Amino acid sequence: MIDEIRAARDEALAAVRQADSLESVIALDPQLLGKKGRLAQLKTQLGKLDTIDEKKVAGQAVNEALQAVAAAFAARRAELGDAALAAQVRAERLDLTEYVGKPTRGHAHLVTQAWERLEDVFIGMGFQVAEGPEVETDWHNFEALNMPIGHPARGEWDTLFVDHAAPGDEPGRTVLRTHTSPVQIRTMLEQEPPIYIVAPGRVFRRDTPDATHMPVFHQIEGLVIDRDITMADLAGTIEAFTKAFFGSEFSSRLRPSFFPFTEPSAEFDIQRPDGSWLELGGCGMVHPNVLEAGGLDPEQWSGFAFGFGIDRMAVMRHQIADIRDMFVDDIRFIEQF
Ligand code: DAH
Repeated sequence: MIDEIRAARDEALAAVRQADSLESVIALDPQLLGKKGRLAQLKTQLGKLDTIDEKKVAGQAVNEALQAVAAAFAARRAELGDAALAAQVRAERLDLTEYVGKPTRGHAHLVTQAWERLEDVFIGMGFQVAEGPEVETDWHNFEALNMPIGHPARGEWDTLFVDHAAPGDEPGRTVLRTHTSPVQIRTMLEQEPPIYIVAPGRVFRRDTPDATHMPVFHQIEGLVIDRDITMADLAGTIEAFTKAFFGSEFSSRLRPSFFPFTEPSAEFDIQRPDGSWLELGGCGMVHPNVLEAGGLDPEQWSGFAFGFGIDRMAVMRHQIADIRDMFVDDIRFIEQF
């Protein structure tokens, strides 16, 4: 009997070892461990043995054999199960090698980056950020800025008129704003002085795109209104901005100029470390007519304003040869930054 049990056990263990797939090992379960299996059959024959001792020894041997087979069966099933899962994962795997190593996040547009850096620097200097609409009334864009209808300076702006009559206004007096300066008027009408704001935004002119011009571009406007503001405050602010934005090796100067909305007016230039000068934008003391249009008494309040292009900042920073490249969304260009 003991020999038969051992033979049945060894046969069962060999069968488990030889099973080479999950299905085949599972199929062995009933014949090895089920009621009809050889070991189970031997167990039913224990009663035929003569002595109690023989029954005890044989019974123990059968139980040990069943346990050994069950353990081997479970181990082999787990092993083959793992292998089957690994094979399935291998078969269903997506080949992502093309994407490995490439950045998954993009970056802000170069103009947005310049815009945000400008805001950061001016906020650091105590300014707040203001905004106004891109579609403006003729009054905000020109008249309130001391350019009444028929003023020769209007001819310098290649204005895009919008086919729309604003409520209470005549047709043909709605424009795509030609500069961010109308935000000066809106801010004065909306908030009490002291005013210290910058207004970055998109502006529009009827211009044919070329390497240095776009019909849609960006400006940042500055406006300070307080008591006893002088031209020295303007020059000091421009100088502080120049050093904060470009670096301490840069400096600035004001050059006399003309704008209808400032008196006196100036252009401001920055000097690069190599000594060369670059014209940046316009500025001046806010004209009394402009203060009045903004609802302020020129006897009580004075201020300065400035405005310059943002796109040019991005072009300078990244040494871009053609401004149009920034707006065509060619991935080969964009990926360089
Ligand atoms: N608005 C002017 C332009 O678009 C720029 C400018 C000049 C803005 C002088 C100002 C200023 O605030 O004081 O060309």
